[in-house]
Amino acid sequence: MNVYELIQKRRTIRRFEQKPVPKDLLERCVNAARIGPSGANLQPLEYIVVSEPEQCQQVFPHTAWAGYLPDWSPSPEERAMAYIFILINRELRANAPMDVGIAAENITLVALAEGVGSCMVGSLDDDALRKVLAVPQDCEISLMVALGYPAEQPQMVGMTGDSIKYYRDEDGTLKVPKRALADVLHWQRYTEDAAE
Ligand SMILES: Cc1cc2nc3c(=O)[nH]c(=O)nc-3n(C[C@H](O)[C@H](O)[C@H](O)COP(=O)(O)O)c2cc1C
Repeated sequence: MNVYELIQKRRTIRRFEQKPVPKDLLERCVNAARIGPSGANLQPLEYIVVSEPEQCQQVFPHTAWAGYLPDWSPSPEERAMAYIFILINRELRANAPMDVGIAAENITLVALAEGVGSCMVGSLDDDALRKVLAVPQDCEISLMVALGYPAEQPQMVGMTGDSIKYYRDEDGTLKVPKRALADVLHWQRYTEDAAE
């Protein structure tokens, strides 16, 4: 599968098989993040991989899932099997959201190429996770990528009306609306009108 096909196939996965993710794959995910583009090549990101079951249990309560699905979060039988935390070392750069996004996508695609699904999670309880993960104050916990073999197959759908909210259909399949290409792609200029 080429990269374009992989990107089309990728959907956020929030239900996982209870099968460990190989350690060497987790390491390759972080390595792919490490060597990605970085503004001014400052490379301020660091990573914590959580893969031990007990530590996964410590992490989970401090993460929030699927804000558009009321009263739902993964049950113990469908939780992720590993978590990669992306940290910004503020001594190297105060803020680096674009570096973080690129790193997260590299992690996601490397994992998916080997059949492992993922969910980026930005809703994190910083104080609690800082303690669980022993993160020093000069590092920001920016984003988490939850990983595991998929136990669901969400589907991308066109938007009907204005709603961007994902939802489950009558079979329980997660449907993820995406804006149409024609609505976001502009060739040469944003509008037909000449700039004033
Ligand atoms: C920066 C960022 C933060 C996110 N935070 C969360 C989160 O806290 N919890 C969650 O369940 N999903 C989170 N997501 C996943 C999005 O909800 C998901 O990407 C979106 O619904 C589109 O679905 P798709 O990834 O299948 O295209 C996050 C995604 C991004 C890029």
